[in-house]
Amino acid sequence: MSGHNVWTHKGTFLLAAVGSAVGLGNLWRFPYLTGENGGGAFILVYALTIFAVGIPILIAEIMLGRTSRQSPIMGMRHLTRTHQTSRAWESIGWLGAASAFLILSFYSVVAGWSLHYTWQMLTGSLAGADAATIGAGFESLLASPGLMTLYHTLFIILSALIVGMGIHKGIEGGLRIIMPALFVILLVVLGYSIVNGDIGAAAEFLFTFNMADLSLEGWLEAMGQSFFTLSLGMGAIMAYGAYMPSDVSLTRTAFAVAFVDTAVALVAGLAIFALVFGAGLETGQGPGLMFVTIPLAFAEMPFGSLIGGIFFILVLGAAISSSISLIEPVAAFLVERFDMTRPQAVAIMTLGSWALGLLTVVSFNVWSEGTIFHALFGRSAFDFVELLTNIFMPLGGLLIALFAGWALTQSEVAKELGGSPAWFSVWRFLVRFIAPAAVAFVFLRTLPQVDG
Ligand code: PHE
Ligand code: NA
Repeated sequence: MSGHNVWTHKGTFLLAAVGSAVGLGNLWRFPYLTGENGGGAFILVYALTIFAVGIPILIAEIMLGRTSRQSPIMGMRHLTRTHQTSRAWESIGWLGAASAFLILSFYSVVAGWSLHYTWQMLTGSLAGADAATIGAGFESLLASPGLMTLYHTLFIILSALIVGMGIHKGIEGGLRIIMPALFVILLVVLGYSIVNGDIGAAAEFLFTFNMADLSLEGWLEAMGQSFFTLSLGMGAIMAYGAYMPSDVSLTRTAFAVAFVDTAVALVAGLAIFALVFGAGLETGQGPGLMFVTIPLAFAEMPFGSLIGGIFFILVLGAAISSSISLIEPVAAFLVERFDMTRPQAVAIMTLGSWALGLLTVVSFNVWSEGTIFHALFGRSAFDFVELLTNIFMPLGGLLIALFAGWALTQSEVAKELGGSPAWFSVWRFLVRFIAPAAVAFVFLRTLPQVDG
């Protein structure tokens, strides 16, 4: 399709895809899951899945975007027609749009907590506080629907403004400022934690591979995390791929995205656990790990409030560069399909997700129990939404792998993929057999959870 938007520079897709990939998944979810699952063995399974399953699906998803040159929903329709295959594959686009709505709704709430902590750290209100005080502070944030709604609203408006300004001025422009800043801040925080924390203990925890430490549950969590962290199976990468120039190498780009994403997760893990071990805190704290132990570790340290504030700005920036990639696929669809202006499309998408996010907000307080969700699904609305995304993302990834590996005309796939015939065979073997088998394995974890 001539006249379709393309990124301004050859490297912009990489920047955008890294922006999407690097997020709360790396800074918040990866460390706490690693902490809960005993460290090194978890990381080994996670890394293996990234290589054997994540990268092949990443390549497939970028390819679907780039060959169709449209938003995921319209693009899938286009591909089923031109490759004369079943229209059922269009479900990939719809499933992705549904996932984007769901993920953004809670992602924005958690990102909102970082807004709170950025403020708290920079104003020095947590300086010198003890564990009980900081724990109680987190509890009282969770207990306040008003405060959480405020932060959630601010965060989603900020993301909407960037996407509303278009892919060039908004997304490219925003990422060109946010991403370099993130890498600088990450290194500052790492340097600080090397000096003030126990980096040796952190490295030992992360890189001692004792497979006996890992439960089956841990295996499955590691694989699920590799989908979430690479933004796979929900159209974000496909939407960005639609703007990728045809002469950029798919394979090399996908490896680069996975490499940077993994490196950021590991560096964040090292920095966080160095602080955790240095301060003698617990590794297996669960989702509160970053929000409770990090302010606590910084509370006692020289310049802790400032560096802690900078740390949460890092979290915030990483979250925004991911949330814009959740808005883009749905917004682009509304523009293409209903001829809306971009601001209108973004407003509708984010308003919908914002409203859904209120369910997450109240799940931590007024509706923490006794709701229809508890009655029907045995869990809060937030846990239910998260469960749905845990099902939709791997399912989307599975369908993408099968569609690219089996349904599309393979001669054209080989052309789009470029590279050597041998690499094409390897990639195709991975998307045809290995990825589907691995996803089936991930479902062993999520599906039994459905009935509570
Ligand atoms: N990859 C992002 C992270 O690690 C999360 C995300 C998932 C973003 C899906 C966009 C799409 O935080
Ligand atoms: Na990530």
